[in-house]
Amino acid sequence: METAERAEHGVSTTDKPTEEADRDTEGKAEQSGRAPATPAKFSFMVVSNRLPVDRCSSEESGCEDGWRRSPGGLVTALAPMMTKTDGAWVGWHGAPDETVQPFSHGGIDLVPVQLSTDDIELFYEGFSNSTLWPLYHDAVVPPEFHRTWWDAYRKVNKRFADAVAEHAEHGATVWVQDYQLQLVPRMLREARPDLKIGFFNHIPFPPPEIFAQLPWRRAIIDGLLGADLVGFQRSSDAGNFMRSARRFLGASVKQQQIHVKGSNGKTTHIARAQAFPISIDAQQISKLARKPEIIERARQIRRDLGNPKTILLGVDRLDYTKGISHRLKAYEELLADGKVTVEDATLIQVASPSRERVEQYRLLREEVEGTVGRINGTYDTMENTAVRYLHHSYPIEEMVALYLAADVMLITALRDVMNLVAKEYVTARTNNDGALVLSEFAGAADQLKQALLMNPHDIDGLKDTIMKAVNMRPAEASRRMRSMRKQILDHDVDLWSAEFLAALNEKVVRDDT
Ligand code: G6P
Repeated sequence: METAERAEHGVSTTDKPTEEADRDTEGKAEQSGRAPATPAKFSFMVVSNRLPVDRCSSEESGCEDGWRRSPGGLVTALAPMMTKTDGAWVGWHGAPDETVQPFSHGGIDLVPVQLSTDDIELFYEGFSNSTLWPLYHDAVVPPEFHRTWWDAYRKVNKRFADAVAEHAEHGATVWVQDYQLQLVPRMLREARPDLKIGFFNHIPFPPPEIFAQLPWRRAIIDGLLGADLVGFQRSSDAGNFMRSARRFLGASVKQQQIHVKGSNGKTTHIARAQAFPISIDAQQISKLARKPEIIERARQIRRDLGNPKTILLGVDRLDYTKGISHRLKAYEELLADGKVTVEDATLIQVASPSRERVEQYRLLREEVEGTVGRINGTYDTMENTAVRYLHHSYPIEEMVALYLAADVMLITALRDVMNLVAKEYVTARTNNDGALVLSEFAGAADQLKQALLMNPHDIDGLKDTIMKAVNMRPAEASRRMRSMRKQILDHDVDLWSAEFLAALNEKVVRDDT
């Protein structure tokens, strides 16, 4: 820890090692891009495909030594733990073929894992995002199965496991995140049986009937069962996982305990599967939503759009699970029916760029942009626009201004394990106004029961729900928003991580009933 804290990040300079350099102190060695002789050790480690930092240039706000903390609740939730408990984060730093030595940013020690151009194509774009992502989202687009992708997935998972094994103190707690790293728990348990291993899946776990398609289904279940605790967003995901463990590995499952057997048929350890619905940093969003400059920015956004009576908003990664096309279809029909007009209403659609080299994502972008062009071409006037489409990512301050500017938030996901945008919108509405239209297929619907829930496949139902939101009386809007805000403020992301870690450290009482 000490070493990594002292170190600056450094890009590998493979031409550097000389005898003189070999005599460098540890800190200098790290700056020159070479690994220190003795790796720093940590008692708490988080592992995710991406590190919680992005590259930036010095003129951008929040940029420190070329890095900026990435937005998102996970890092906020874990940061206090990481600083208090001598923790480190292991992950890819986002640049292909570049070796970056461990460094510290914003008080968090970071251990970068290198990915080559081939790894990105086969492990990240291939197995993670063209096999697992669509398969785990109920095959809304067909998953592809390629043995070369699987080989790369195994190889890269091993690299992550090795990095953790090298840096974990004896008896450390390790928390592995998400579908890109499902083999890491088993690999770690084999290399380091002394560790306490948790895993959290941030996306759905599909029913065994769909998971069955995966040629490597046994290896994935076995990989996850290396963990002491496997966390999911919803109890249905935990249930799907336990049914798959039983069906494909013949594991015995009692309550939430899965008895993992060694080659001699004896139970080697007990893995537990449980739901922990994730949330957001509600305090941060509430605080931003009360800042005068952000409130003024929201007014400015409305003015720039010609002060329409109603602003509708969609905010999504440009992903086929989000139902953006369904939303646009419903909106186009409402314009055609004359239920909304460009003079009275504007739909802002923020579609942040995502996985742009993956074919299905390219196709989706073409489709969405074609539809937006058609709608605007048909309905725009010189003064007013039907859809303001923004293919960008924005900092959280701008997002909160957009949430404040929008009267109606549209979340039409076809499959989404949670959807944190829904929670952010509600939290930002500190005046308890505005309306949330929310897909029944987003996990957030389990918690935000006062949203206007709908099935995005039912276009007429979606249109009716949008109109209900547009015309909602203030008293009803306030009643619904108040109750949803309370739910979120009572279940901050801090609570999510605290509950997971408490469960991970619980002593397991064997349930043999
Ligand atoms: C989802 C996944 C994350 C992932 C994020 C962005 O939220 O659960 O693991 O990091 O999408 O996707 P990307 O492929 O850009 O990392």
